[in-house]
Amino acid sequence: MSDRVRIIEMGPRDGLQNEKTPLSIADRIAFVRALVGAGLSTVEVGAFVSPKAIPQMVGSDEVMRGVSQLGGEFHVLVPNVKGYEAARAAGAKVISVFAAASESFSRANINCSIAESLERFKPVIAHAKTDGIKVRGYVSCVLGCPYEGAIKPQAVVDVAKALWDLGCYEISLGDTIGVGTPRQAREMLRAVGGDVPLAHLAMHFHDTYGQALANLYAGMEEGARVIDAAAGGLGGCPFAPGATGNVATEDVVYMLEGMGIRTGVDMEKLLATTNEISRLIGRPPVSRVAAALNAKNKRMASSE
Ligand code: HMG
Ligand code: MG
Repeated sequence: MSDRVRIIEMGPRDGLQNEKTPLSIADRIAFVRALVGAGLSTVEVGAFVSPKAIPQMVGSDEVMRGVSQLGGEFHVLVPNVKGYEAARAAGAKVISVFAAASESFSRANINCSIAESLERFKPVIAHAKTDGIKVRGYVSCVLGCPYEGAIKPQAVVDVAKALWDLGCYEISLGDTIGVGTPRQAREMLRAVGGDVPLAHLAMHFHDTYGQALANLYAGMEEGARVIDAAAGGLGGCPFAPGATGNVATEDVVYMLEGMGIRTGVDMEKLLATTNEISRLIGRPPVSRVAAALNAKNKRMASSE
């Protein structure tokens, strides 16, 4: 496994959407700038969703404009045409539509059925095509649902294929509540890979039960090469009770570099970014690598 892996940084969107206190626009922009400076050139920076649903993402247009001069690829979530218009006006070049493999989660998250959500995405994707904007697609609850429990791989295949057929260039498979284990992750990826080329699948694994790295490794053995991760292990969805953060970017980078896979990420800068965002939200990072490196740096400083 010595080829390249693409990391999509989720901290400013999936991470901050789940924080009780919204950060200022300036802090959100500084977070993105620091991530890009650490070598994470693809970053999901915001969401054009209902301010009632996710108040933390209000001001995503200002964040988009604030980062537009940085050299990077910036993604934003868009649930409908209203969100699309706002994203385009803010200069978005890549948007993500988001569906689910579970009816109950779809209802809780975006207030419609899976079929209705796919209908809603059709005009969004058509406009995006005309405007030269790329569309990524998410499927949530691919390894379990907070309301329905187990989810059949075929349900994931159906939604992933529908998004692919609608024209999404990449399908990100979300273990929204972080319950999956490697065998399940492998089987799900194999199943989806039968209808969507594996090179166009991303793994978006939350780490609630501590399985995310193992699940990513299993997915990489299957051939998947795109990983969604969030600095500091931030993340979660207010409509997915019990879910905790995404797999931490620093944990992913440490694992990949240890496997001889170059990430282009400067670990020292990423650690500084993680520490700064943790200071702003008032909680230490949950990632093992950040804790280990911070402890090591402290030991070295005290022995000088
Ligand atoms: P709805 O209430 O059915 O929508 O919500 P509506 O069309 O009836 O509109 C209701 C109100 O929302 C109206 O305002 C609209 O203007 C407004 P009012 O007249 O009441 O003042 N509205 C909007 N405002 C701003 N931007 C918009 C927009 N659309 C409508 N785009 C809706 C449906 C989809 C809008 C809502 O449920 C929503 O915004 N949901 C988003 C939920 C969300 O962002 N969840 C977190 C992201 S998903 C996730 O985290 C999972 C992921 O990480 C992968 C994984 O881990 O699995 C991606
Ligand atoms: Mg997520």
